[in-house]
Amino acid sequence: MTKVLLPLALQEYAEHFTTQEDEVLKELNEETYEHIGRPHMLSGHLQGALLQMLSCMIRPKRILEIGTYTGYAAICLAKGLSEDGVLHTIELDENLKEIAQRYFAKAELQDKIKQHIGKAADIIPTLNETFDLVFIDADKKNYGLYYDLVFDKIPIGGIIIADNVLFNGEVILPEQEQGKFAKAIHAFNEKLLNDNRVEQVLLPVRDGILIVRKLKN
Ligand SMILES: C[S@@+](CC[C@H](N)C(=O)[O-])C[C@H]1O[C@@H](n2cnc3c(N)ncnc32)[C@H](O)[C@@H]1O
Repeated sequence: MTKVLLPLALQEYAEHFTTQEDEVLKELNEETYEHIGRPHMLSGHLQGALLQMLSCMIRPKRILEIGTYTGYAAICLAKGLSEDGVLHTIELDENLKEIAQRYFAKAELQDKIKQHIGKAADIIPTLNETFDLVFIDADKKNYGLYYDLVFDKIPIGGIIIADNVLFNGEVILPEQEQGKFAKAIHAFNEKLLNDNRVEQVLLPVRDGILIVRKLKN
């Protein structure tokens, strides 16, 4: 699904001049591509390094990830947690639990990551936490719903990061040529632009990353 929006040579250049993936992430990347369906869903080297950098800058006490897949981004984000910090990550597909759990242990993050299996819309309301950082990366049609569900759980100054906000570049096509997921993502981008409680920057990294900062309740 995700095609590289940057010319491949520039993508490779950017990856070359980004700190290398550590051994655990490299192995997880390889195992995902060899054995798991739809491996393009994994954040990968460049985006993973960006998520890790942002998390290290924020030093969150609580992180929520919506859409674990095989756990690559969860590991990157968890590396920035404060000493007593915890990352909650939600995944619909129970079959992905084992691989993610195995790599959380390899990364020695098993005590800092709590896995939840089920529908994000059912699980988020049960989490009695305040999140300094939320990463939205599950089913595209529900981004707006997830934003609404997490908003009151985020303090002023808290950060939301949303992935795939350029949706293969489809978001700039005329509406009648957009697929339903591109339409949903475009509606999400518009919703945030019109929300004066937040400020945001859309980075054309990989498939587009929106970084949102909460300004008021
Ligand atoms: C793009 S992948 C996540 C990739 C991961 N965040 C990473 O960067 O490595 C999206 C994941 O969301 C999961 N998902 C889809 N719908 C969901 C839902 N309603 N609730 C929870 N997870 C869902 C999918 O099964 C898939 O594993």
